[in-house]
Amino acid sequence: MRIELPRTSERFGANVFYGPVQVYELDSGLRGQGGDEEGAIVALPYERLHEIQGQMAVVVPVRGERIRLIEGILFAIPNQCLVIVVSNSPREPVDRFRVEQQALYTFARLARKRVILVHQKDPLVAQAFLDAGYPDLVAEDGRVRDGKAEGMMIALALARLAGKRYVGFVDADNYSPGAAHEYICEYAAAFALTECQYAMARILWQSKPKYVDGQLYFAKWGRTSRVTNHFLNQLISRYTGFETDIMGTGNSGEHALTLELALRLDYATHYAVEPQHIVSLLERFGGERESPYPDVIREGVEIFQIESRNPHFHRAGEPDHIREMTRVALSTIHGSVLCPAALRREIEEELLAQGCLHDGDSVEPVRRYPPLLDMDFDTFHSTVERRLQATSVERVRLRWRGPSGSRRRHVSRTGPGEWPPGRDAEETQGPIN
Ligand code: GDD
Ligand code: MG
Repeated sequence: MRIELPRTSERFGANVFYGPVQVYELDSGLRGQGGDEEGAIVALPYERLHEIQGQMAVVVPVRGERIRLIEGILFAIPNQCLVIVVSNSPREPVDRFRVEQQALYTFARLARKRVILVHQKDPLVAQAFLDAGYPDLVAEDGRVRDGKAEGMMIALALARLAGKRYVGFVDADNYSPGAAHEYICEYAAAFALTECQYAMARILWQSKPKYVDGQLYFAKWGRTSRVTNHFLNQLISRYTGFETDIMGTGNSGEHALTLELALRLDYATHYAVEPQHIVSLLERFGGERESPYPDVIREGVEIFQIESRNPHFHRAGEPDHIREMTRVALSTIHGSVLCPAALRREIEEELLAQGCLHDGDSVEPVRRYPPLLDMDFDTFHSTVERRLQATSVERVRLRWRGPSGSRRRHVSRTGPGEWPPGRDAEETQGPIN
C-alpha cells in the first residue's frame, strides 16, 4: 500500500493524534517493487501487511443482519486474519444464530479459514466473565448485556486468548466487501507505520453515499459524526488553547487497536464505544490526571486516521437511531471528568437543538466499563475452553481433514451451542441466502 505519512498532529499528554492521511495505491506490490520511499509517501510492501494481518483478529459484531451481508464481510477478510464473529442475533421465533452458524461453517470450510463464532447471550460467556472477576458486563439475568460494545469486549477477550497482537473491527452491515477488505489493509498499514505498542487506527470514510433529490450524493460526514467530531475537537482545544479540527473519526465503527492498548481503555455501552475511546485516551493518558498505566505514559500512544478510497455503503439508520447515537456519543464527552462546565452547557444546547433531549431533561450518563486488563484471563480461558473447542471452526476443520478420509464422522455434535448446529456437516454446504 502506498500511503501518505501524517503531516499534522496534535499532542495531548502522551497521546499523539495524527491528522487524516490518504492512500495513493491500495496495493503497491511486494518488497522492493513499490519503489523507494519518497519522503511524504511510503510504499508498504505486501509482505509487511500480510505479516501484521497474521497477528490480527478481525471482529465482526452482528445483530440480526442479513446472511448475504455477513457473508460479504467474511469473503473480504484476508485469510491470514483470525475471524471472530460475536452475534447477538435473536434465537426466536426463527433461530437466526443457527443460520449464521451454518453460513459460517460452510464459509470456513470453503475458504479454509479460521473462524470463532460466539453468541453474546451464551450463559457460559457470562459465567467466564464472572469467574474471571469482571462482573460489569453481566446483567441481572445472568447474560452479557446487549450492545455492540459489549460484543466487542467478548471478542477482545477471545483475541487475547488466541494470542493476537492486533484487533480490528468491521461492521457486518456493509454492502461492499471491497470496502471492508480495504479497511483491514489500512489497519495493517497503520501498524506498519509505528513501532509503538499502544496504537490505534481509525477509518475516515471517503464518503457515505445517500440519495438526495433522486440522485446518489457522496456525503462526507454522517449526521452524528459531524457533531461528535466538533465536540471532541472542542474538548482537546479547551486544554491546548488552540482550536483544532484534528479529530475526524469520532464515531468510527471501523477501527483497530493493538491489544495492549485495547485492554487499557474504558468501554462505553453500545454505539458510544468509539467516542468513549477518545475520551478515555484523553483521561487516562492526557497528563491531566494521574495515569494508572505509567508504561503507556512513558512510551506514548499513537492514533492514526486513514481516509479510505471506497465509499461506505451500509444499512441506513432511522432518524431515532441517529438521535440516540448522537445522544450517547455526546454523553461520553459530557460525562468526562475533563469536560469544562461551559462545554457541558454547549453539549446540552446541541442535544436540545437536535431533538435528542427535551426541555428539563438532563444528559444521562452512559454505562461505562473499566479496562479488561486486570481480568483473570486464565480463569476466563478455562471456563470457555470447552465451548470454544466446539465452536472453533478451525479445530473442526482440522479434524475434518483427518487421515481417515471419512468426513462427517469427525464432527462432534454433543449439545446446544456446539458445532455444527444440529445438522450433519455435509448438509450445510448448500448456498445460504
Ligand atoms: N454483537 C453485537 N451485539 N453486535 C451488534 C449489536 C449487539 O448488541 N448491535 C448492533 N450490532 C452490530 C450490527 O449488526 C452491525 O454489524 C454493527 O454492530 C453496527 O451496528 P449498526 O446498527 O449498523 O450501527 P450504525 O451503522 O448505526 O453505526 C455504526 O457506525 C457508527 C459510525 O457512523 C456503528 O459502528 C457505530 O458504533 C458507529 O459509531
Ligand atoms: Mg451500520
